[in-house]
Amino acid sequence: MITQNIEQAIEALNKNEIVAIPTETVYGLAGNAFQEVAIQKIYSLKKRPFHNPLIVHISSIYDLSLVAKDIPEIALKLAEHFWPGPLTLVLPKTSNIPDIVTAGKNTVAVRIPQHPMALKLLSQLDYPLAAPSANPFGSISPTKALHVEKYFHQHLDVILDGGDCHAGIESTILGFKNNQVIVYRQGSIPLEEIEKITGPLIYNTLNNETPDAPGMLTKHYAPSAETYLTNNVSEMMKLFPDKNIGLLLFTQKIQGPNIIHRETLSLTQNLREAAANLYAALHRLDQYQPDVIIAERLPDQGLGKAINDKLTRAAAK
Ligand code: TXA
Ligand code: MG
Repeated sequence: MITQNIEQAIEALNKNEIVAIPTETVYGLAGNAFQEVAIQKIYSLKKRPFHNPLIVHISSIYDLSLVAKDIPEIALKLAEHFWPGPLTLVLPKTSNIPDIVTAGKNTVAVRIPQHPMALKLLSQLDYPLAAPSANPFGSISPTKALHVEKYFHQHLDVILDGGDCHAGIESTILGFKNNQVIVYRQGSIPLEEIEKITGPLIYNTLNNETPDAPGMLTKHYAPSAETYLTNNVSEMMKLFPDKNIGLLLFTQKIQGPNIIHRETLSLTQNLREAAANLYAALHRLDQYQPDVIIAERLPDQGLGKAINDKLTRAAAK
């Protein structure tokens, strides 16, 4: 049930149930991060493979030592600068965190979300919340309570409604090895902003077999329709003269006879607005059941880079 009643969420979480919560990035499927039984439910509801670890959410930097230890100085500096906010740090874990949360890794991914309802909820609990995005594994992430309801309505007693997620794409994930800062996943904080603090970043190379950060899996965030990403939408449309086409455009207005739906991410070419609109636009496009979705590549800078990364994975075979 969709509700704004935090008490109801607390009651369910205290019974090791799973609830959906809003964050500034996307909605999460949350459970008590210290309780294996709760975490088990998250994996089975999401149909998520056990090798793909979860992000742990805390409400205050004072709680960081409950979940992580041996924290590098640069990680603390990043936390102080970007938290609360869409930055996730991968750090050595404490024994409070069950192995199931971290998929057996000795590191834990942690962040303080920026959404007031999430913070209010977290501050009233005496445990952190493990929460992956509230979508079935591989499908489009949810940025509205209604998206979560569409996916999980029979299975969730509490979907906390905090409105539309204002950042709209997932948190940026960073790890730390040998005094270097490694990008595990591009997200809501542009890498250029992080590099102002860290200096040049290292990119985690793709490895689908044993992914370091499985959000880096090649195929992810995928609509039901076959999806293509291109710099030249009009040219690509010519390849599908007999198909119903859905278009995901950055700013352009493109006409054509067989377009059944068109989404424009930002008429004013604003990348923040485009990120905030991305997943809701993909959800709407999916509802029109096009044969193909053609997405326009965004400018490859700042948030544009992160959005292109998501679209590349949505379009992967
Ligand atoms: O914005 C977000 O981060 C949202 C909201 C709900 O906080 N959460 C989210 O969770 O995107 P999820 O489960 O969809 O993605 C978590 C990512 C996965 O790519 C996972 O592989 C990575 O975090 N991850 C978690 N623990 C990790 C670890 N110990 N080492 C490397 N990557 C890790
Ligand atoms: Mg996800």
